Amino acid sequence: MSGKLVVFNHPLIHHKMSLIRDEKTGTKDFRQTVSEIGMLMAYEVTRDLPTKKVEVKTPVGIAESYILKKGVVVVPILRAGLGMVDGITTLIPTAKVGHLGVYRDEVTLEPHEYYAKFPSIITDAIVLVVDPMLATGGSVKHAIDVLKAKGAKNISYVGLVGAPEGVKKIQDSHPDVNIYLAALDERLNEKGYIVPGLGDCGDRLFGTK
Ligand code: PRP
Ligand code: URA
Repeated sequence: MSGKLVVFNHPLIHHKMSLIRDEKTGTKDFRQTVSEIGMLMAYEVTRDLPTKKVEVKTPVGIAESYILKKGVVVVPILRAGLGMVDGITTLIPTAKVGHLGVYRDEVTLEPHEYYAKFPSIITDAIVLVVDPMLATGGSVKHAIDVLKAKGAKNISYVGLVGAPEGVKKIQDSHPDVNIYLAALDERLNEKGYIVPGLGDCGDRLFGTK
């Protein structure tokens, strides 16, 4: 099955993206708004989740209803992916959470992994890889490589800002993976930052610069 590219077009997401793009927005508002966008995106990202029919005994009768058929695993790429987890798990409280620590070398822009821990259900679950920034795409590609090697079969990527270079890398290397973005920007600059982007997402989330 071939994956889709969805760039959200929703007034609330546009409004909140304007807030986090603004260089004057401080840590508290940045962190809260990233989480809120994660929650709004989760509603749409989960639209096609498989369901199964159940019968529920209501106080008045029997209702034919639907529940989620598969587990959901959210996998934030540390650090910045952590900023979207609360919002997503607010909508999917039963989701399990795996963690993948990856940093991008400032010079080579290559991803380096330093931590990995996943729930055992990833092989049969809907897996949402979460990282706000898709720049060269190296970090997200690495995460999908790792998850597939662990047996994950149904993977989507959820992020805030993408560059065309990153989108192409994921589509070329993992054409089965859905890509969900709140915005698709113009390009990368000479340091591998997304233009206009929002700067260094990890630093802005955690106040490290
Ligand atoms: C940032 C961002 C992505 C990566 C994107 O992480 O959160 O993981 O860069 O770049 P890429 O698409 O070119 O791989 P960073 O390496 O700065 O680590 P941090 O989240 O710990 O700050
Ligand atoms: N990582 C970020 O945090 N921002 C960018 O623009 C690119 C990579």
